[in-house]
Amino acid sequence: MSIGIIGSGALGSNLARALARKGISATISNSRGPESLASLIQEFGPSIKAGTVQEAAGADIVIAAIRWTDVEKVFSRLPAWNGRIVVDATNPVEFLDPNSADAKDPSNPLAAYGIKAVDLGDKQSSEVFSQFVPGARVVKAFNHNDVAALSNPDVAGGRHVLFYSGDDAAAKAEVRKLIEGTGFFPVDLGSLEVGGRLATLPFGALAAHNFIKI
Ligand SMILES: NC(=O)c1ccc[n+]([C@@H]2O[C@H](COP(=O)([O-])OP(=O)(O)OC[C@H]3O[C@@H](n4cnc5c(N)ncnc54)[C@H](OP(=O)(O)O)[C@@H]3O)[C@@H](O)[C@H]2O)c1
Repeated sequence: MSIGIIGSGALGSNLARALARKGISATISNSRGPESLASLIQEFGPSIKAGTVQEAAGADIVIAAIRWTDVEKVFSRLPAWNGRIVVDATNPVEFLDPNSADAKDPSNPLAAYGIKAVDLGDKQSSEVFSQFVPGARVVKAFNHNDVAALSNPDVAGGRHVLFYSGDDAAAKAEVRKLIEGTGFFPVDLGSLEVGGRLATLPFGALAAHNFIKI
């Protein structure tokens, strides 16, 4: 299975690093083009290639490592998915300009973190995300915790847990394999409606917690 990563920021670069540690091949992309990734690619070694967004989006498994507010813009321009797997690693939060009124809004419980929750009504975020990737099989993964947890799957006496959820069993099985390949311990949380809600920031009960499989 080929892997493409869209986004090379905190999440995309650390995911690529986690794949590179195990020699797993992937194409990583960003908004500035492959040349901007030269130093990261040098660090990652031969298994990770820089590509355009279109090249990364052509993989069998495409990981969305972009901000929620960029999802519609990026994904509405991509070719047909035809049943390929898209991993939604996003969280529905908006990053705030520290000088904005929102950043000082006392009614925003996340203001201290420089973010605010995006209001999706009663929709689960991957349900909204799925609208932008028609025909794809969406799996939610790699989103539940700070990227610092991706730096090493092993901890004393155990392995870091990565959650995943989705509505297509075969797609979930592929993502499970990918998580296992990186050395992390995969835990299936069920459907997007159930598992996605549990593991999605900012308010999912399992989000932002670091679980260890011992
Ligand atoms: N940071 C974390 O600890 C963490 C953990 C779990 C989940 N997440 C989620 O992961 C997602 C990404 O977060 P992040 O912290 O990695 O954000 P980030 O550091 O701001 O990185 C965002 C990436 O998206 C790329 N991008 C923006 N517009 C694009 C476009 N039009 N085409 C292609 N690429 C585009 C940017 O490209 P350029 O580099 O060219 O600007 C950048 O590489 C968010 O949804 C976040 O909620 C983050």
